Amino acid sequence: MKIKIDSTKKKTELLCGFVLENSNKVLGLGKFDVKTSSVINQSLKDLEGKLGRLTIIPSPGKNYAQRILLAGLGKKENLTKDTIRFVSGKIAQKARELKLKEFSIITPPNFVFDQISSVSQIVEGSKMALYKFDKFKAEKANNSPDLTIIVSKSNKISQIIKTSEIVAEGVIFTKSIANLPPNECTPTTLANFAKTISKKNKIKCNIISKLELKKRGFGGITAVGKGSKNEPKLIILEHNRGPRNEKPIVLVGKAVTFDTGGISLKPGDKMDEMKFDKCGGCTVLGIMKAVSELKLPINVIGIVPSVENMPGGESYRPGDIIKLYNGKTAEILNTDAEGRLILADALAYGEKQYSPKAIIDFATLTGACIIALGTNIAGIVSNNEKLTKKINESSKRTTEEVWELPLNQDFMDMIKSDVADMKNVGIGRAAGTITAAAFLRNAIENTPWIHIDIAGVAWTQIATKEKAYNPKGATGFGVRLILDYLQNL
Ligand code: BES
Ligand code: MN
Ligand code: ZN
Repeated sequence: MKIKIDSTKKKTELLCGFVLENSNKVLGLGKFDVKTSSVINQSLKDLEGKLGRLTIIPSPGKNYAQRILLAGLGKKENLTKDTIRFVSGKIAQKARELKLKEFSIITPPNFVFDQISSVSQIVEGSKMALYKFDKFKAEKANNSPDLTIIVSKSNKISQIIKTSEIVAEGVIFTKSIANLPPNECTPTTLANFAKTISKKNKIKCNIISKLELKKRGFGGITAVGKGSKNEPKLIILEHNRGPRNEKPIVLVGKAVTFDTGGISLKPGDKMDEMKFDKCGGCTVLGIMKAVSELKLPINVIGIVPSVENMPGGESYRPGDIIKLYNGKTAEILNTDAEGRLILADALAYGEKQYSPKAIIDFATLTGACIIALGTNIAGIVSNNEKLTKKINESSKRTTEEVWELPLNQDFMDMIKSDVADMKNVGIGRAAGTITAAAFLRNAIENTPWIHIDIAGVAWTQIATKEKAYNPKGATGFGVRLILDYLQNL
């Protein structure tokens, strides 16, 4: 999909405009001849401006557009920072369905939204909505119509479009690797994706393999990785475009390429979904790709511990006591609580190696998070109010929703073990998301840290709110959120 801008209306196969509910005009659409106007007015009545509804007017008269498409935005007071994004996604999918080569969208005038926000939503929404995971299907959704955004030209707008395209491509990259089935995506595959990003965008990449992981004391990654023939990897990408001595932001992402639960085997129902247990790591890779393409003038480190959690003759077991990278010991009581073990190693390594300004981690960490917050809001747990505030602001701007859960000493006490420094489960099922975060909290000393549990939001589940730009499968949650945070540092 190529995207360009034009300040005047032009010849197009499909001219698309937005309509508010209870309104009798198309936002930003100029005057037409009498005959066309009357057709448009009739269609406006049919549409009623209802949110997400689309109406197409074929051959509206002798003017520049072959068809006009009217898209409802709903009530003005219900508009969010996401409305233009998901309605644009619907429009793009319609253009594809009609097998068009190109279509045009009229940017709503400033009184509805600021134009910059509208333009970036149009770009992100339509680009993301045209991604489809069809790698393994004979029939591909291969036509991807080009888009002209109708808006007054300016350098600023061109820049916004470029940025938004890179952001959307970051999300799409994350989705495309997160959607890969577990037989086609092992820790080694993810390491190779990281190497490709590093070569293309000239950033540093370091992969630590099984033997070295063991030698260097990554006890969590080593233990969880032992049960699989697909060997564990620790993937590290470094984007250094900030001042030489400026502390970096460290991003850490859980990448369990398949989570069977290990010896504490999961039940069969929906176990296939555990191919998405690598989503946190995929989010970090997508962010690093975009950060390097955006050439952000900051230092950002991406760390992705990747393993496959399998039962087998060499698996780690309930009862084992392991030593994590920071020297603390953990009693294993459930091999299905594996994410916190590999993350603890990666967090401790990130803090020790880079003395970062902040550490942000993403993980499909707990089923409990789905029980607590559902499938449209990610859980956050942090040791730092300022960082939490910044992430909340980015969340408001990007509409990737988060909700903070508390972490106090009582929760830290719940993971105390009789025989080791910690145990890898809490007490029964109480506050499962927080006790998992408490385990992570033990891996770092005092660096500002925020943990984002994406178990409910990383892929579409039964209760997921439908959005055109999030077709079935991985959502790439977190990529837009953190890119916003990094761009506003
Ligand atoms: N990857 C799972 C969490 C998960 C489950 C995410 C379902 C999304 C959907 C994680 O490794 C896990 O199994 N967690 C356990 C922890 C428990 C054993 C303390 C859980 O949530 O049940
Ligand atoms: Mn698990
Ligand atoms: Zn897991």
